[in-house]
Amino acid sequence: MIPTQAVILVGGAGTRLRPVTSRVPKPVAPLVERPFVAYILENLARHGVERAIFSSGHLAEVVEAEIGDGAAYGLTVDYVVEEEPLGTAGAIANCAGALDDGPLFVFNGDVLSDVDLTTLGRLHVERRGMATIYLTAVEDPRRYGLVELASDGRVAQFLEKPGEHAGPALINAGVYVLEPEVFELIPPGRLFSIERGVFPRLAQAGSLYGYVGEGYWRDIGTPESYLQAHVDVLERVVHTTAGEALGETYRYVAPSAEVSPEARLVPPCYIGDGARVAAGARVGPLAVLGAGARVGAGAVVVESVVQSGVEIADHALVERSILVRDSRVGAGSQLSACALGEGCDVGAGNRLTGGICLAPGTTLPDSAVDFREQLRGREES
Ligand code: GTP
Repeated sequence: MIPTQAVILVGGAGTRLRPVTSRVPKPVAPLVERPFVAYILENLARHGVERAIFSSGHLAEVVEAEIGDGAAYGLTVDYVVEEEPLGTAGAIANCAGALDDGPLFVFNGDVLSDVDLTTLGRLHVERRGMATIYLTAVEDPRRYGLVELASDGRVAQFLEKPGEHAGPALINAGVYVLEPEVFELIPPGRLFSIERGVFPRLAQAGSLYGYVGEGYWRDIGTPESYLQAHVDVLERVVHTTAGEALGETYRYVAPSAEVSPEARLVPPCYIGDGARVAAGARVGPLAVLGAGARVGAGAVVVESVVQSGVEIADHALVERSILVRDSRVGAGSQLSACALGEGCDVGAGNRLTGGICLAPGTTLPDSAVDFREQLRGREES
């Protein structure tokens, strides 16, 4: 039987994705103006999954308020909240009472993928293993679970986060099918990792299988990868309804947005509800403007995520950056490869570059920072 139920792990703190996750939990951080986990729910519903259980902890109430009962995504969502983090295996086992008999899909809550769950589920049934993991190839597997696959599809070895490894390899993509018997390997009510405590044992017993998918895969756990996920949705490299909504022009402008006829929108781009773009401004390529965001006259926004309520003043330049909601960039300021946390206020005439990341609520006065000058000064001395 192909699973019709899923557990989605959403209890982590998402520390690596700060400042995006400083005030908003990672599963509902917006990706092209939709809560991230909506993309997972959409894919589950597409493959016939009827019920998803969120295993949550950190900011659980925010996730529940945002996603509700799942009706908007075509399936039922229930919540099991941990009092303290139980680790990946402990978290799944903690959901046992809420699950039906039979196998289940498990998703890490930070994986963007259009994985073919029907094929994954079918292979799992055919091979009769205890678990089947969706595998994807990455250039540097050191921060993932590295998998060596035998010719019959069995996982010969599972190594969680191997410190040393040269070259590309197959990794655990954070999406798998489990038989309920796997719960017997998990000690109840305590911190336990499926990657360290369960998968290596199943591999040794010959009952862990892998499925190498052709589909798109990315974990959105860091600012670089969160920005790249936006690019991939806009470029329609990954199959999503948000990407489809861009249509053949690769350009979406919400009906309530106000774009000056003298502004330039360069696709791919997404302009959200009530966003305003003034004359002489350029937005795109690869830019997302959230609801109510404002871009002033002559300003340029390229390859960036501009969340709801952000204000970019006249003649500012924002490139390869993430501006979390309600932040502000003053006139003529230039931001390159930066991240501003919620409610940051960068005064006019500043120049920030090279991975600068400001904590929520940070204020920079006018002309306070010229990071390019500082870099140049260091090179010259
Ligand atoms: P970082 O703090 O940036 O490492 O992120 P994270 O806390 O999300 O950890 P990681 O990326 O390793 O977690 C992968 C997935 O498992 C994420 O979707 C987490 O929400 C989830 N997760 C990790 N640990 C737990 C846990 O103890 N309980 C639950 N319910 N989910 C967890």
